[in-house]
Amino acid sequence: MKPDLLSIEPLRPQSMEELAQHFTVHQLSMDKSTWLEQAKPVAGRVRFVQTTGFSGCPSALMAALPKLEIVGCMGVGVDAIDLAQAKQRGIAVTNTPEVLNDDVADLAIALLLMTARHLGLSERYVRDGRWKKLGNQALATKVSGKRLGIVGMGRIGKVIAKRAQAFDMDISYHARHRADVPFRHFPDILAMARAIDFMIVIVPGGPATKNLINASVIEALGPKAIFVNVSRGSVVDEPALVTALVTGKLAGAGLDVFADEPNVPEALLDLDNVVLTPHVGSGTQETRGAMADLVVNNLRAHLDGKPLLTRVG
Ligand code: 8YV
Repeated sequence: MKPDLLSIEPLRPQSMEELAQHFTVHQLSMDKSTWLEQAKPVAGRVRFVQTTGFSGCPSALMAALPKLEIVGCMGVGVDAIDLAQAKQRGIAVTNTPEVLNDDVADLAIALLLMTARHLGLSERYVRDGRWKKLGNQALATKVSGKRLGIVGMGRIGKVIAKRAQAFDMDISYHARHRADVPFRHFPDILAMARAIDFMIVIVPGGPATKNLINASVIEALGPKAIFVNVSRGSVVDEPALVTALVTGKLAGAGLDVFADEPNVPEALLDLDNVVLTPHVGSGTQETRGAMADLVVNNLRAHLDGKPLLTRVG
């Protein structure tokens, strides 16, 4: 008898086939509101959960699985998983660190370049005939050599900094603790916001960072600054950010993450100073493949009584 595994959001087909060789897989649909109902017939037997950073494992669902032993999450961020309950019940949680560092850092730099150089607008300018009709596009903002402040200097923050060095940027970072990096450390985020041209946010989501980027930080960045978020929407006071972008109190923003995905504030959709992407930081075949492999290998390690590869809690 293969043990029961609840898949909250599927991995790529090849990885689901691999899981099916070792587990009896019960697949939930994407409609969150029916998860409890869908899980009910097998809830008493499920020992394994496979999920993603986006779908997570909410408290009520976890509570409905009395035999649960492990949650394997495809994603480095585990803020959508009830970690407190997992800890209290001794349920292991695994994530997928390291393998996505390059892709998320690449996207952070891409969004910074796109926003500062108005490249989203440039694309539309050519495609909808504005170049022919109106002539040259208005001038943009130079990126190379500018002052970059990174919020979070963990695994991905360090890779972003490495890429920024190739653009001759003056790099600072805000983190609670000084990291082992040759960049200027700002324990005070407001002080850093006043001293930089661009801010890139790459901290974990969750209560500790909720609204870390609030109206005061946005004001301290000022009307010439560009803001990039590739972490979690919860880190930013989204209404304050939208107001600043609409009123010109912030020059622009490159956003891959939002407070209530896939819902993006209406007001952002018409703004030319904003570049919007649908949470694709790790969204390449290569990286999602490596992430999926890591999920499968963690779940199999648990099944075989072997040490987990990347345990969070
Ligand atoms: C994934 C992510 O898009 O790793 C994370 O925390 O946000 C992304 O890499 C997500 O986990 C998939 O749902």
